[in-house]
Amino acid sequence: MAAMRIGILGSGSVGQTLADKLLTLGHEVTLGSRSEANPTGTAWAEAAGPHGHNGTFADTAEFGELVINATLGAVALAALEAAGAKALAGKVLVDVCNPLVFAADGTVTLDPVNDDSMGERIQRAFPDTRVVKALNTLSAPVMVDPTRVPGRHQLFVAGEDAGAKREVTALLESFGWPAADIVDLGGIQAARGLEMLMPFWLSMMRHHGHTDFNYAFQVAG
Ligand SMILES: NC(=O)c1ccc[n+]([C@@H]2O[C@H](COP(=O)([O-])OP(=O)(O)OC[C@H]3O[C@@H](n4cnc5c(N)ncnc54)[C@H](OP(=O)(O)O)[C@@H]3O)[C@@H](O)[C@H]2O)c1
Repeated sequence: MAAMRIGILGSGSVGQTLADKLLTLGHEVTLGSRSEANPTGTAWAEAAGPHGHNGTFADTAEFGELVINATLGAVALAALEAAGAKALAGKVLVDVCNPLVFAADGTVTLDPVNDDSMGERIQRAFPDTRVVKALNTLSAPVMVDPTRVPGRHQLFVAGEDAGAKREVTALLESFGWPAADIVDLGGIQAARGLEMLMPFWLSMMRHHGHTDFNYAFQVAG
């Protein structure tokens, strides 16, 4: 795909991993945080070279032709409000977040869950933005390097806008995902199931002791 300006909201491990990969693919990237002086974002941009920048969530949304939401799920709506509806209007927003709630006793739950999802909440709150839920079911290293897991295994896209899903699919293919393993689950409501995979994913992580695993479906016919 042609080089783009891509804004990543979130300077955690997911944001940085995606940002590094996008730079290697020739894109220009801004990594966004609440504050422009965020030390993680500043250090990343210094190391990244001339095509890597950091800024506020608003700078990042303004910069991106395509924007990725890699913020803490519980605060994703606040982060996107800081990014600004106007700057996000008309753009593809890849929503990677999971609305996990961590209790003091180590229990992890989701909010929202079951009859709603953060992907849907974001699409409702930003109706002019073309939200595509993707990548939330994988560890950050596997997102950008599917060969870390042997054999065929799948990831998913869900959203209302077919053109937006095609753009995201092309981006995922450029990461090394075979087209046949990128499964379109339909509208954004499918984000419910994708987010609800996370408690199971966390159990698998504890079981294996690492994050180099993924879902693989055997399908008849
Ligand atoms: N870790 C994984 O492998 C993985 C895999 C799949 C999906 N995910 C999901 O991807 C998202 C990012 O994960 P991560 O581990 O990279 O992120 P993280 O470190 O948990 O957080 C990333 C961002 O959330 C922002 N943030 C934190 N508190 C905030 C608040 N009160 N208001 C606004 N923004 C706030 C931070 O802003 P500042 O930069 O200003 O600190 C930071 O940029 C999460 O939703 C996670 O569930 C993670």
